[in-house]
Amino acid sequence: MRSYLIEGGYPLTGHVKIGGSKNASLAVLSAAMVIDGPCIIDNLPAISDIDVLLQIFSDIGATVEYLAPGKVRLDARTINTHEALHSRVTEIRGSYYLLGALLGRFGKVSLRMPGGCDFGVRPIDLHLKGFQALGATTDVGRGIVTCSAEELTGGGVFLDTVSVGATINIMLAAVKAKGKTVIDNAAREPHIVDVANFLNVMGADIRGAGTDVIRINGRPMLPGGREYTVIPDQIEAGTYMILAPLTRGDITVDGVIPKHMEPLTAKLQEMGVTVEDGEDSIRVYLAEGDTLRSTSYKTMPYPGFPTDLQPQATVLLCLAEGTGRMIENVWENRFQYVDALRMMGANIITSGRLAVVQGGAKLTGSRVTARDLRAGAAMVMAGLAASGATEVFDIDRIERGYEHFVEKLTKLGAVISRVEREGA
Ligand code: UD1
Repeated sequence: MRSYLIEGGYPLTGHVKIGGSKNASLAVLSAAMVIDGPCIIDNLPAISDIDVLLQIFSDIGATVEYLAPGKVRLDARTINTHEALHSRVTEIRGSYYLLGALLGRFGKVSLRMPGGCDFGVRPIDLHLKGFQALGATTDVGRGIVTCSAEELTGGGVFLDTVSVGATINIMLAAVKAKGKTVIDNAAREPHIVDVANFLNVMGADIRGAGTDVIRINGRPMLPGGREYTVIPDQIEAGTYMILAPLTRGDITVDGVIPKHMEPLTAKLQEMGVTVEDGEDSIRVYLAEGDTLRSTSYKTMPYPGFPTDLQPQATVLLCLAEGTGRMIENVWENRFQYVDALRMMGANIITSGRLAVVQGGAKLTGSRVTARDLRAGAAMVMAGLAASGATEVFDIDRIERGYEHFVEKLTKLGAVISRVEREGA
């Protein structure tokens, strides 16, 4: 069993280079599976979710060549099946993009139900509703989703709930459908724009990505043959930004798009933290004499505060002065990690989607488990802010989404190591 051993209480200081966006990479790589020629994708993060997705592509016959760390050449013309039924598909959530990609490519797809973090029901009804609007029939039975169409034709889709996954999946299915597709109440996350940019570079015609109405003019052939660089990871950047005030340190995140970080920047400033934007970097610290103050957070689809930074921000509220509130509007069950924080000395009461956090906690080290990817990061952060030793278990969940986590934290001055215990 692998774990992280942390000695808390040290301020984290210095520069950290942010990797490519996990969620954008999963979507852009999947989008390459619709393209009718080779394409090169760069700036992929060194995380296990990407390795698993590329392995799934190889399983179905796609050509995957590693050109350099974080850079691959993909050719989907060698895919020899519309079925992705390997158990590997259930290891990650991002495999759900193969629904749109293979449906768009072959007019049919069978996919084992995707996995991913467990924070409540994770339905795909909106994805299927979108495919139906393009003329597909859909069926879910015995853990397998099947969709097929004689011919995919453009259509209008209104998403009742703003869904990142459904927006991207519908784009993937529509990009080669006959005619025009309009997605209303579309998600506006930066990675939606990234996928649309990628597809347009490869020959598609998608307009309006980044707004809540996306228009797609289907094209019969998407030639590809180009290179594309994925955007930086908002959530990784946000995690390090929160770590600066959390450890009373001074961190500059490099290689970011400051605009994408505005929902977090605004909240940190409200809490009394100094945030200085550079062109592609952000410096974060608590200035001499300034106090960390509590505030209220509400997670919302972009440009709201991202749910994937909710556990990390909750840890920060534990140390702030006053009472803070965290309202989780996206997922129904994303406070499962709170018990572990309480064990470390946090004073948090939860009720449904609300957590009330009494600040001023003195956290002490403990043995805790990474319940999911971002909650796992929050455990590490709590350990870094706590006095004494913390051991975080189930770190595979964290390494699904944070590249070189131990190495990057160590460079900032953290005392953290990876431990392997046989058979424990
Ligand atoms: C993606 C991210 C995840 C992030 C989430 C919200 C990936 C691989 N994962 O997940 O890290 O937490 O966006 O920013 O990119 N919903 C439905 N029906 C559907 C689909 C979704 O009701 O068919 C609901 C969900 O239950 C949830 C909300 O819509 O309450 C948002 O989910 P969605 O944006 O689809 O999240 P994912 O794409 O799964």
